[in-house]
Amino acid sequence: MLERDALHCRSQLKLYFSLGRAKLRQLGINLLVAKEKRILGFICSRNDRNTENAVWIDWLAVDPASQCKGIGTSLLKKIEETRPSHLLLVTSPFAVHRAARKFYTASGFKKAAVIPRYFAADEDGLLFVKTISTGRQF
Ligand SMILES: CC(C)(COP(=O)(O)OP(=O)(O)OC[C@H]1O[C@@H](n2cnc3c(N)ncnc32)[C@H](O)[C@@H]1OP(=O)(O)O)[C@@H](O)C(=O)NCCC(=O)NCCS
Repeated sequence: MLERDALHCRSQLKLYFSLGRAKLRQLGINLLVAKEKRILGFICSRNDRNTENAVWIDWLAVDPASQCKGIGTSLLKKIEETRPSHLLLVTSPFAVHRAARKFYTASGFKKAAVIPRYFAADEDGLLFVKTISTGRQF
């Protein structure tokens, strides 16, 4: 992860913390932090508004010093343990997110769509979906 991204992730985490648990709950945001003596990573998710069965991953980040040690996988597993029918996320096609795309593919996600100009005029969004066969159903 580039230092710029590390800073972005830290400021995003700070923002979530500043909102406080009650506000996060009110917004339907579930923040899960992996922590030892310091914060190793975090995942931020929320239920899909159309179907309570599916869950969106808004943010997933692992501290650069702790990457490739299974922390991202274990954070994702914690969300899967809540048995959503699908996990959904949108990521960037830029080279800087190549490792993230590999991580999601290795974690069972499939690229489902390209959303033109999603993040910016020159940055599409890639919709990744993981279907969980044991997840909640209608
Ligand atoms: C993407 C990210 C969350 C992965 O977390 P992680 O704890 O490093 O990942 P894990 O150790 O659980 O890796 C699981 C698998 O993902 C793949 N993977 C993870 N990091 C990878 C990398 N840098 N390059 C290639 N594949 C990678 C591997 O297949 C790995 O399995 P393996 O260890 O058996 O080879 C983390 O690298 C990160 O925070 N990146 C920067 C922020 C970011 O891009 N977030 C996503 C925004 S959409």
